[in-house]
Parts: sequence; structure tokens; C-alpha cells
Amino acid sequence: MEARIGGARIHYVDAGERSLVPIVLVHGFPFSHAMWAPQLDVLKGKARVVAYDVRGHGRTEPGDGQLTLELFADDLLGLLDFLKIEKAVLCGLSMGGYIVLRAVEKAPQRARGLILADTKSEADSNEAKLKRAATVSAVKKDGVPAFAEGFMKAIFAPETLEKRRDLLELAKGLISANPPLGICGALLAMAGRTDTTPGLAKIAVPTLVLVGEQDTLTPPAAAKSLQENIPGAKLKVIPGAGHMSNLENPEAFNAALLGFLASLQ
Ligand code: MLT
Repeated sequence: MEARIGGARIHYVDAGERSLVPIVLVHGFPFSHAMWAPQLDVLKGKARVVAYDVRGHGRTEPGDGQLTLELFADDLLGLLDFLKIEKAVLCGLSMGGYIVLRAVEKAPQRARGLILADTKSEADSNEAKLKRAATVSAVKKDGVPAFAEGFMKAIFAPETLEKRRDLLELAKGLISANPPLGICGALLAMAGRTDTTPGLAKIAVPTLVLVGEQDTLTPPAAAKSLQENIPGAKLKVIPGAGHMSNLENPEAFNAALLGFLASLQ
């Protein structure tokens, strides 16, 4: 399905029971809503579940490629308006978490709860910004499939890299389906994002922080800091997973998700 938001056609799916609590899933960089397949199935009977493609990813086009985290947060809030959802559980993984954290800072009244997976509140360091710039150049020079191949080591735990060829192929396929303009635009958007740490103490809805125990991109220490700064937040470490905890250990990830949703009833 498609929503017209801020001049873009945002592709989304809207499944499950309308009468149940709405949960919106925001994917990581540079994937699409399809990365949530192991969660969509399980959530359908327990919630109204919405998942969408962030601008420049999946079937949501990058437009002119001038993407900002602010635009991504506005798109998320715009999608809630479009779907006439007053409040939702907002669940974001990594870049999706950056988007959720900025959206809730701007419009706290739209959140019923937060699930922040493999993400952090701090903005990029100088070193990280320079790495983004180098990645933009590499994507433009060598193309998306070469970037996707190299990215695997950053996002998956060593055991996943060794034993889960199926997951590697899935991830490379999802990444390679995205246009270079979208990938470079998202890299620049992340480099330019604000630090949402100062707003964490004001979050007043139930919050679950999840992190793969072997996540090196947004490590358990970053998750711990989120948990410590958000009043009442709970932290669950997902065993046997790296940065893509929802794909690497869907059983543990889904159990945490369902437990959190049940606690909201
Ligand atoms: C993601 O997984 O969304 C990104 O790798 C996060 C980042 O690069 O900061």
C-alpha cells in the first residue's frame, strides 16, 4: 500500500487486527520493511502491525536524494496521521531507532510505548562522519552489491557469518535492491542527525531496549546507556546475535516483543 506524505509515496503494510494496539516497525539502514518478516507473522495475531519503507529504501523512492533524519521522523509521524493512528508502539532497529527517538522527542504524545533495538541516542562522532563520507564515495565508485558484501561483517555476529548463508543472502538481496541515491542519502542523513540523549529523561512511556550480545555497531554499552537514561526502561540482551538481532535470533527477539506488548494491556 502507499501513503502520500510530504511529497513522497511511502510504501507500507498494515496487517493484523485494527482493534488491537498498533505497533509501527521502522527498519535499519539500508534495508526495507522486509527485514521484519520474522516479526510480522508473529505480531499479526497480537497487534495491528504497520511496517514501511523509509525514504530511499525498498519501494519508497529517494526523491532528489537530499534526505535528513528530520524528514525521516516527519514521515513516521505523517504515516501515523495518514493511518489515523493517534498513538502507537514505535519499534525501530538501529537507524529505525534513530528515527523513533527523534520522532518521540518531537511528538511524545504519539507514542504508546517504545522498542529500541540495536540503536543509540548519540550523534555521530567526527570519526563516524568521516567513515560515512568514505562509504558514500565507495558506494558511488563500486556500486551497491560491493558495499553490501563488505557490510555483512559489520552487522552479523561471527557465528552468523559462518553458519547462516541464508541470512547473508537475504540481507545482501535486500540491500542491493536499494538505489545508490537512497543509500548515500541515508548515510548523509545519519551523519547529520542530532543527539537525542538530552530528551531521554523526558520519555514517559514504557520502553524496552534490545541489543544483540555481539552487536559491535551499536554495542550493549550503548543499549545500557539508553536504558539508564530512559525512566523505567527495561533492557534485554539477545543471545547469539550481532547487530541484526531480529533476524539472527528471532525467537528471543519475538518473545521480548510479545512480552512487552502483553505488559501494555
Ligand atoms: C543501521 O543498522 O541502521 C546502521 O548501520 C546504523 C548506523 O550506521 O549508524
